[in-house]
Amino acid sequence: MNIQDEMKKRRTFAIISHPDAGKTTMTEKMLLFGNLIRSAGTVKGKKSGKFATSDWMEIEKQRGISVTSSVMNFPYKGYQVNILDTPGHEDFSEDTYRTLTAVDSVVMVIDGTKGIEAQTLKLFKVCKMRGIPIFTFINKMDREGREPFELMEEIEETLNIETYPMTWPAGMGKRFLGVFDRNNEQFVHYTGNEEEAYIPYDQLDQHPELSENATFQEAEEEMLLVDEAGDGFDMDKVMRGDQTPVFFGSALAPFGVETFFNSFIEMAPEPAPRKSTEGIVSPDHEEFSGFIFKIQANMNPQHRDRIAFVRVCSGKFERGMNVTLSRTGKSFKLAQSQQFVASSRGTVEEGYAGDIIGIYDPNVYRIGDTIVTGKSNFEYDELPQFPPELFKKVTAKNVMKSKQFRKGLEQLVQEGAIQLFKRYRFEDYIIGAVGELQYEVFEYRMKNEYNVEIELTSIGERIPRWLREDQVDESLFDERNMLAEDREGNPLVLFKNDFSLRWFEDKHPDIELTDLFEVNQYNQTFE
Ligand code: G4P
Repeated sequence: MNIQDEMKKRRTFAIISHPDAGKTTMTEKMLLFGNLIRSAGTVKGKKSGKFATSDWMEIEKQRGISVTSSVMNFPYKGYQVNILDTPGHEDFSEDTYRTLTAVDSVVMVIDGTKGIEAQTLKLFKVCKMRGIPIFTFINKMDREGREPFELMEEIEETLNIETYPMTWPAGMGKRFLGVFDRNNEQFVHYTGNEEEAYIPYDQLDQHPELSENATFQEAEEEMLLVDEAGDGFDMDKVMRGDQTPVFFGSALAPFGVETFFNSFIEMAPEPAPRKSTEGIVSPDHEEFSGFIFKIQANMNPQHRDRIAFVRVCSGKFERGMNVTLSRTGKSFKLAQSQQFVASSRGTVEEGYAGDIIGIYDPNVYRIGDTIVTGKSNFEYDELPQFPPELFKKVTAKNVMKSKQFRKGLEQLVQEGAIQLFKRYRFEDYIIGAVGELQYEVFEYRMKNEYNVEIELTSIGERIPRWLREDQVDESLFDERNMLAEDREGNPLVLFKNDFSLRWFEDKHPDIELTDLFEVNQYNQTFE
């Protein structure tokens, strides 16, 4: 099979959700389709302890969680599925965001009893900023939840995206009968069995238990309303991330997952061309290229090894091939390569655009690096930085260790493990992260890799806003709204909270404040 046929089969996506919306349950059902696991209930370790995604890091073992966002891949109906896991809960970190730069689409799982929740919103914003197509699965229809129309409206208003219901539910909770599959013109009947029963619309009259049921009739009327008043399906909008196809079901039952997955896999985009310093690179370009979106150190404490996660963007990856690291122009042989299937690491011999491959990192790679073969030496667009939310002052416990401290800090910051700031005109280091876990990993690595014990003092959640150099007026700021500078020396303010930010904006309308999302967006659009 040639490069083009192979890459067209790839479906690389992440599942995003707020903790407890059902992402793990959903992932598990998908793995069942791929025959990757034999029975449900084997994926989750946190509560049942049955499964631990990896024991790569001591910290993972201690907490019984997975720091690593792993990759699961399996063939399904002629496609090659790559699911990238995005950690939820307290494991939330910049890695979670960065994972989204390596996927071609996203499945957003929403708890139908709750609607849009905070973490979904954060992840959604990143998808939107990058124009990633988003497919929505409204979960927990087996429970009494919010009205479907209300949920659609909330998605549209909160996320500023059009919705197109691909399926429409008949009832919910105890009255749940199934969903209308609008695309395939069939009713998917919820019978309580794992198998989904499909009844074509024109055979519904043979099922009086449905056609004469008040809940069913009500749903039929709602469907008419959706047909008439709703937005039309627009694949171009879906591909731009301006419209989201919506499905209803229950990951636990399971119900509607198969209907969702079959439609999703057909509709979801194959790997797209990507922007580089030498113009657009097509995924079927004959030369291999890829970028590193994550580096995981200390997977094996005995060897102090580091694994770089590469998203293949074009050509064919082969084990043992020679590649050039564009940033330095140096060549390497990719002798060790791994693909990640949940807990096991298997050696991978080849890969195509859309695949995620782990390569051994002899301490030369950085997050965002591009590797290529052939004569070209381009780099993919820089990975965006994500606005940190938690901030802590960091010092070495032992002042004698300040040299190692600075070295560790520098390297870990460069690796993208954490973001570094300095208090304006002070030597105080402040580090920023999007999740608490990043601090734990940082502290652990400083101790184990650089032999420095650190002291972290929280300055709480903050809202960072960058400001123009010529508008810096130190007298306007204090501990509450702290003036700082980022790694490049750009001034910013760490506002105490939303209220302080708004108060400041009201008082000083002339001072221009920018958030990182805007900065990123600006770079993307006008580069
Ligand atoms: P997460 O990965 O997004 O955090 O969610 P997870 O799949 O772990 O699901 C969170 C809880 O919601 C779990 O219950 C799970 O069984 C339940 N759940 C998931 N999908 C559905 C659904 O379609 N319907 C209903 N009723 N519940 C669902 P738990 O009691 O917190 O955990 P567990 O003891 O079942 O593992």
